[in-house]
Amino acid sequence: MPVPAILFPADPLNPRRPDPHYTWEARLLRELGGEYHLVDHDALLAGSAEEAVRRVPSDCGPLWYRGWMLPSAGYAAFARALAGRGATLLTSPAGYASAHELPGWYGVFEGATPSSVWIPVPAAAGGAASEAGAAAGGAAAPGHGELAAAVARLGGRGPAVVKDYVKSRKDAWHEACYVPELADLAAVGRVVDRFVELQGEFLAGGVVLRRYEEFAQTVVGGSTAGRSAAGGSTSGGPAARDRRTVEARVWWLDGEPVLVGPHPDTPDHPAEPDLTEVRPLVRTLGCRFVTTDLAERADGSGWRVVEVGDGQVSDLPRGVDASGLLSSLIAT
Ligand SMILES: Nc1ncnc2c1ncn2[C@@H]1O[C@H](COP(=O)(O)OP(=O)(O)OP(=O)(O)O)[C@@H](O)[C@H]1O
Ligand SMILES: [Mg+2]
Repeated sequence: MPVPAILFPADPLNPRRPDPHYTWEARLLRELGGEYHLVDHDALLAGSAEEAVRRVPSDCGPLWYRGWMLPSAGYAAFARALAGRGATLLTSPAGYASAHELPGWYGVFEGATPSSVWIPVPAAAGGAASEAGAAAGGAAAPGHGELAAAVARLGGRGPAVVKDYVKSRKDAWHEACYVPELADLAAVGRVVDRFVELQGEFLAGGVVLRRYEEFAQTVVGGSTAGRSAAGGSTSGGPAARDRRTVEARVWWLDGEPVLVGPHPDTPDHPAEPDLTEVRPLVRTLGCRFVTTDLAERADGSGWRVVEVGDGQVSDLPRGVDASGLLSSLIAT
């Protein structure tokens, strides 16, 4: 059985080299005795999967990908194009979608992650979408009735967070991410509309509403960075813009944690999460290579799953020792 190689995105300016964001990972992989090939990420996004994989040698066997996020449909086309060259992505398109998109993993992690509901948003389709108020190139935001039903499913009141099936607009926290009070449906609509507008054509799947929970946070972007609990007047409030949840990113391969590191947003804050509750859930999900982002409750009463991701497209902050992770990937 041949050992897996890893696919990295090529540098758009120099297609024979890995994209600069992945250079250190590719170099480390070589030092560990692994092999990599390069793919054209722009061609993948443009729907030209065959063109994207033309530098991957034929019949090169099993492959992992480590690169930029792809929409689930794009990943499926990527897998088909590779199969056409006799190569197999070790994460199937179905496995990718279930780890990458919240509705794919939520059922398994329900209870261990903030309660969530979602509203599918069809991709923009010409005139009909524009009539419904879509920005150019983007989808139409859910209407009042759909939002009201979703809010009711989430309990009808309390603070919440808005995102799509994959990403949030956390950098526009007050404008497009945080909802102080779900009972204020007009305010929910404003945050959701702005979120959909900012995501534009990149909106993934639909709109997700999640109950806001108080997690331990840190101040970011200032010299006074220090760890503190969210709460009191700072909870989701004006100060929240420059505060970030301290999350640990746990990398799982075949149900085992092969790396526990910081989240890329808080690279200087390593955390030591308790994995007792999460481990069986990762095994139930059944995807071979995933990440879980874990945050500690502000009152110290335990760890919560903020989100699950496909390990191939989760960002690995530079400076983390990834040799154990990469060695495990090429050993399986
Ligand atoms: N239910 C919640 N309660 C409190 N904070 C939350 C909740 N969901 C998300 N957050 C915080 O909001 C921010 C964005 O959340 P999330 O990780 O879901 O979005 P993202 O854009 O996918 O981020 P990532 O960069 O990890 O992919 C994070 O700082 C996270 O800790
Ligand atoms: Mg996140």
